[in-house]
Amino acid sequence: MGISIKRALGLVCMVVTLMACSLSAQTVTERTSLPKLGKSSVKEVIAAMTTEEKAKLLVGMGEDINIPGLLSMDPEDRKIPEKVPGAAGRTHAIPRLGIPSITLSDGPAGVRINPTRNGDQSKTFYATAFPVSTLLASSWDTNLVRTVGAAFGGEVREYGIDILLAPGMNIHRNPLGGRNFEYYSEDPVISGKMAAAFVTGIQSSGVGTSIKHFAANNQEFNRLQSNSIVSERALREIYLKSFGIAVKESQPWTVMSSYNLINGTYTSQNPELLTTTLRKEWGLKGFVMTDWFAGNDVVAQMKAGNDVIMPGTPNQTKAIITAVSDGTLSQQQLDENVERVLNVILQSPTFKGYKYTDQPDLKKDAQIARMAAAEGMVLLKNEDKALPLDPASKIALYGNTSYELIAGGTGSGDVNKAYTISLEEGLSTAGYVLDAKQKNVYIQYIAEQKQKRPKPLMSFFLPPPIPEMPVEAKDVQQKAGEADVAVITLGRNSGEFSDRKVENDFTLSGTEQGLIKTVADTFHAKGKKVIVVMNVGGVTEVASWRGSVDAILLAWQPGQEGGNAITDLLSGKVNPSGKLATTFPVAYDDVPSAKNFPGKELPGQKPLINNPFAGKPAEVVYEEGLFVGYRYYNTFRVSPAYEFGYGLSYTDFAYGELKLSSKRFDGKVTATVTVTNTGKVAGKEVVQLYISAPAQKLNKPESELKGFVKTELLQPGQSQTISFTVIGEDLASFDPSSSSWIAEAGTYTVKVGTSSTNIKKTATFDVMKEILVEKVNKVLTPQVKINELQKGRG
Ligand code: BGC
Repeated sequence: MGISIKRALGLVCMVVTLMACSLSAQTVTERTSLPKLGKSSVKEVIAAMTTEEKAKLLVGMGEDINIPGLLSMDPEDRKIPEKVPGAAGRTHAIPRLGIPSITLSDGPAGVRINPTRNGDQSKTFYATAFPVSTLLASSWDTNLVRTVGAAFGGEVREYGIDILLAPGMNIHRNPLGGRNFEYYSEDPVISGKMAAAFVTGIQSSGVGTSIKHFAANNQEFNRLQSNSIVSERALREIYLKSFGIAVKESQPWTVMSSYNLINGTYTSQNPELLTTTLRKEWGLKGFVMTDWFAGNDVVAQMKAGNDVIMPGTPNQTKAIITAVSDGTLSQQQLDENVERVLNVILQSPTFKGYKYTDQPDLKKDAQIARMAAAEGMVLLKNEDKALPLDPASKIALYGNTSYELIAGGTGSGDVNKAYTISLEEGLSTAGYVLDAKQKNVYIQYIAEQKQKRPKPLMSFFLPPPIPEMPVEAKDVQQKAGEADVAVITLGRNSGEFSDRKVENDFTLSGTEQGLIKTVADTFHAKGKKVIVVMNVGGVTEVASWRGSVDAILLAWQPGQEGGNAITDLLSGKVNPSGKLATTFPVAYDDVPSAKNFPGKELPGQKPLINNPFAGKPAEVVYEEGLFVGYRYYNTFRVSPAYEFGYGLSYTDFAYGELKLSSKRFDGKVTATVTVTNTGKVAGKEVVQLYISAPAQKLNKPESELKGFVKTELLQPGQSQTISFTVIGEDLASFDPSSSSWIAEAGTYTVKVGTSSTNIKKTATFDVMKEILVEKVNKVLTPQVKINELQKGRG
């Protein structure tokens, strides 16, 4: 058809101007005969693509950054206006084949885009700052996380974005991990379930996600060149497991590979990780993208199944074209990469021509953020019912972050939000009486400190923290006379590029300790209570000072409505129901990875990567193996300050008998328990199911979380019956000698409780014969011997 039209036009051309006509003949031919995405099959579109076009599609459009030695953006691409200014990246369009450019944006706690455009303040593009992921996980409520995801997804869609670069779901291996706030938990089941719920919620809005950072990326130190040395078993059971759950349960449109190497190979260049495990074993259908500027060999990335290179550089495009022409990269491989990308583009709102409004319902989403924040805060201590506060309380409010709440962390996890409600605002709105003079002193102090501190290189980086304002004993004395109660907020922030420190970060600074001591001594002397609110993104030391105060509310980094949400809990409007999804140890040295975090630099080793931000080549050995978080504390009997799964309520719950459907495992066992609110106020309980497995063949943790359910809001006296179905997968451990998941024969103990150590009921069942649950591939084998921690179970 195309050819005949071209011929006809060609004849006419002979009587007009030859050159001009042959051009228009060409155009008509293309218009009528070229395949178009969505109209023709993906295979036909690929067949019509040149190698240059394929390479362009697979390498992002680059980032307009001015870093010497790093040409990221093709000057031609710079001329193409950004659809969503401030979004993290976009792909190249190929208009002749109907392939649009799609837009990718951060991040886990809210859409990260520029709040204004071209200096025009009259129209804003703010996004809701939802609570950070660590808080969401502490809700132990997958329905809630799905709801947050759906609201968040609406903002992604209404701002014209196709794929959200979230959730972050690396394991909290160590409290100092600089991006822990972007991640869920130390446990793979809770991380995987939370990520799956979040992805399901986001994708229900018609946009995609990118679960990240795949995998074993548990620190920021030298992140572009750090080799994570991990055993096959720890990888399978801890670091890959959560991603496996998320992929199988929610099928994210994309996965983001991480910066680091695993056992000597960059994750983005490892076919064992991205093809064998992620696709063949777990069934990922979508594409894999790199983290920004990750890896050092674009051809290896293509071969590994890392389909999209972000943000992309012109040199990477050239390298792909050259590799195809010299035969080091096959057309077939390239076509497979392209096919996966096109299949995702086909689903995207941009491809579908969605008319986005730039006006998401921020009012509605702020209410969701507030509700979610209250669900994930954890009441750590409440001596003599110090909380909830009396509604008529006059409050002396201490701590910088009482007046300037930290809504979320920095870097790509940051959000440009319209406002943040401080605790002072939240309490005032709820009718509590506060001291205006005290507020002014803090506001002035914070402003002065901000003036003094050096500006970070880019807004992306974490600014130096504002030191806590010291208090004068005389002034505290006066406040203790006037107020009914003292509330002190402690704040911590962190973000991309650096990990936290032990001194004055994991631990309290001298000024913070002094503040707690002075306020506690003075208020207690007058018979008045002292409450601490922890506005932190990660685990912080509590053991040395918790004895001095009456109540502690772990508010995490609760998003823009944080001050209101904290007030909802302090006032008792909402009954706390959050539980720790990450252990609070007594001391940093108790952390099982403490001696192996963040690893060491490798002097003399040639840089692997050419990037001014690359840091140095380094390695980190995961010597604690499986024993991450509570798996360690409970097995080795090291008492934490607050254990995994812990959290108080303003009411009490009683657990009825734990019934098992059978004493013999026959493919599954159902465990049923009834929980009753025996207290005086309505509340929710998180019912947690752990299993202790026999350990004849394989070393095992004391017990592991296998299921959890948050009850409905139970009124006093009301009960709810909860059922868990335990299947073979829940019993299995990974045996590296046969690369299989096996459930050993023997007696298994089901433990149901309100935390990992506060077990309310137990029951046992037997597995008569060893079960081979799944045989998988031998992949990601360490190249060196790891001196892995073995269990001292006794
Ligand atoms: C981060 C990613 C983020 C990307 C784009 C990288 O520095 O590690 O999590 O999605 O930047 O902003």
